[in-house]
Amino acid sequence: MKDLVNLSQARWFVYAWSEIYGWLANSWDYGPYGSLLKENIKNLWIKEFVQKKDEMMLLDSSILLNPKVWVASGHVWGFSDPLIDDKNTKERFRADKLLEALIESLWEKASDLQTKYSVNNLIPESWPLEKQTEVMRGEKVVNPNNWEVWDWTDAKKFNLMFKTSIWITDDSSSTVYMRPETAQGIFVDFPNVLRTSRKKIPFGVAQVGKAFRNEITPGNFIFRTREFEQMEIEYFCEPGTDLELHARWKTDCMNFLQSTLSLNSENLRFRDHDADELSFYSNATCDIEYKFPFGWWELWGIADRTDYDLKAHMAESKADMSYFDPVNNRKYIPYVIEPSVGLNRLFLTVLADSYTVEWAWEEARTYLKLDPKVAPIKVWVLPVVKKIWDLAKKVYSQLAEDFVCEYDEVGTIGKRYARMDEIGTPFCVTIDSANYEAWKVTVRFRDSMEQELVEISELNEFIRKRLK
Ligand code: GAP
Repeated sequence: MKDLVNLSQARWFVYAWSEIYGWLANSWDYGPYGSLLKENIKNLWIKEFVQKKDEMMLLDSSILLNPKVWVASGHVWGFSDPLIDDKNTKERFRADKLLEALIESLWEKASDLQTKYSVNNLIPESWPLEKQTEVMRGEKVVNPNNWEVWDWTDAKKFNLMFKTSIWITDDSSSTVYMRPETAQGIFVDFPNVLRTSRKKIPFGVAQVGKAFRNEITPGNFIFRTREFEQMEIEYFCEPGTDLELHARWKTDCMNFLQSTLSLNSENLRFRDHDADELSFYSNATCDIEYKFPFGWWELWGIADRTDYDLKAHMAESKADMSYFDPVNNRKYIPYVIEPSVGLNRLFLTVLADSYTVEWAWEEARTYLKLDPKVAPIKVWVLPVVKKIWDLAKKVYSQLAEDFVCEYDEVGTIGKRYARMDEIGTPFCVTIDSANYEAWKVTVRFRDSMEQELVEISELNEFIRKRLK
């Protein structure tokens, strides 16, 4: 993980935010290569789930919505994590996460906790706050930063929404929230989409955008941050068809990760939520988990949310959220399947999955084995010697018509290859005078390091074929 973070920072993927002012903890900026990589992942997601599916549409709703949206959705009263403070150091933690770590460390003995504390599962998130406090104190859970202290305050609810205000006054009537998820923007626009699109159910709406959560314990680089981007889909369907569609979306999301982004299948798994863990309104929920350098964690949540959200907005707003089925002459509130993934978390997944160290000629070779579709720079153009820069620039201009390229004339060829490997550039085009006279250039492949002579007139097509 440390190597990955170092490479990201050194190679223009992700920077510490506002570094010249001493940084704001856990905030990150995406540098020139990081921005391109993130954009590529986003565009592939849009291509897969909007462009290639006739029944899907894209939406871009506001970050600041009417605050009643968050009352109806349950976020104002329920979007919270259990906060617990170490009285000695004043550090703040999520009680449920500390308890999860305790349970993991106890192995099979963890089940004793159920009888000892009269809890009917080993999912601390579902325990009442008083119970979480009792177990924290009873089991003398240590502060993970110093391994010593267990002087805990009572666990209390901490709402994760960032508040801000509009207008000039500062009273509660002007309070608005930075959206903690993009999903609600889709729900509240459901009547608009229905009216304007004339789509028949099942259909879906996709959205990519920023979300904000005042996380108690952000961390693991860009895995959990307070400001992040989500790529969410609400797929509206007829009640009764939801479980089958939920299963189909699980497969589609996994295929996207394995086939489109070419992630290693052994680093991915489904984790279906069992009955204890399911939200009261959900018929089924599954996480796709990824084996990050710090363990298996949720990457993508796929939830069958039934008609909970549309009904909640209908009750609060009094707007009609029903759908009229013209074939069966029937009106109903649609059920919803929600596949939701964090773009930044997926970015980290792509980086971690592609990070490769290989030994060649007794030297370690570090490179990002990115799928060419995802790679920020597709072609790196380099003249063998500086003085033929004019020829190389001509090839660069030809390639730049179709691909994001980079021109580089500084350093030995070997060093330049190493630089392009480190940022995952799949193709390197090397120009030398002799070959240029025969209207040819050398293409060097990142993974195999093999080289091939290609006619300049066929170069763009040659690369295009290999990007598919
Ligand atoms: N609308 C459903 C929803 O927001 P979630 O499980 O809270 O569900 C969905 O979030 C996805 O968003 C997660 O699977 C994760 O990929 C990403 N995500 C959530 N919180 C995040 C955070 N603080 N930082 C980065 N990504 C986050």
